[in-house]
Amino acid sequence: MKTKLSVNVNKIATLRNSRGQNMPNLSKVVQDIEKFGSDGITIHPRPDERHIKYSDALDLSKIVKSEFNIEGNPIERFMKLVLEINPTQVTLVPDGVNNITSNSGWDTIRHSDFLYKKIQELKSSGIRTSIFVNPDPKMIKRAFEIGADRIELYTYSYAHYFRTDKEKAISEYYQSAKEANKLGIGINAGHDLNLENIGFFKEKISNLLEVSIGHALITESLYNGFENIISKYKAILK
Ligand code: PXP
Repeated sequence: MKTKLSVNVNKIATLRNSRGQNMPNLSKVVQDIEKFGSDGITIHPRPDERHIKYSDALDLSKIVKSEFNIEGNPIERFMKLVLEINPTQVTLVPDGVNNITSNSGWDTIRHSDFLYKKIQELKSSGIRTSIFVNPDPKMIKRAFEIGADRIELYTYSYAHYFRTDKEKAISEYYQSAKEANKLGIGINAGHDLNLENIGFFKEKISNLLEVSIGHALITESLYNGFENIISKYKAILK
């Protein structure tokens, strides 16, 4: 089964914001990423808009042709934005305002009522819903019970332990995927996945529907470009 690749473009916006102008041009990058074969585009607008701005989300909604996935904590402003855009999928993430990046999945049992309400709101607009969770079958079971279409497995610990013991690193993800498949809830995954660790994850997790990858994919792309670009500069400067 093919797993869809959704490219997270937060880092492109971070780079652009660092100079206060429009380079790189996020819309152009997104169009090119789709041209190069991405199955989807992911953005994660945060309340402080330090990378993706709310206005970027609106601009991109007019040009994204593949699956558009918007991630974030369903605070009022976020819900208003996604209900206006109507993307393919909304992934609910419990990110705190000051977090550098997402650092945990939802406790779907503790926040059950809150998440249930948000999921119903999104589903009534026809938006596919996903809940970001740690690899814990209890969290997955409750995500299923409150009506989420999918879970997104938080893959930080897999990526972290992969280099020392990949069998150990995958084991709780394997159990979690087994539970998800038994219940019939879809499986997405993301965080710290890269060219080195993605293959083993795909091999072990059956019915992996989608991965969203940002940080490593952008870094790997930079590296693949350096040789070519430096030789172009050298050719002009010789
Ligand atoms: N999934 C979620 C919920 C995230 O917050 C992020 C990072 O924005 C990702 C996936 C992608 O992680 P990475 O940038 O490490 O590929």
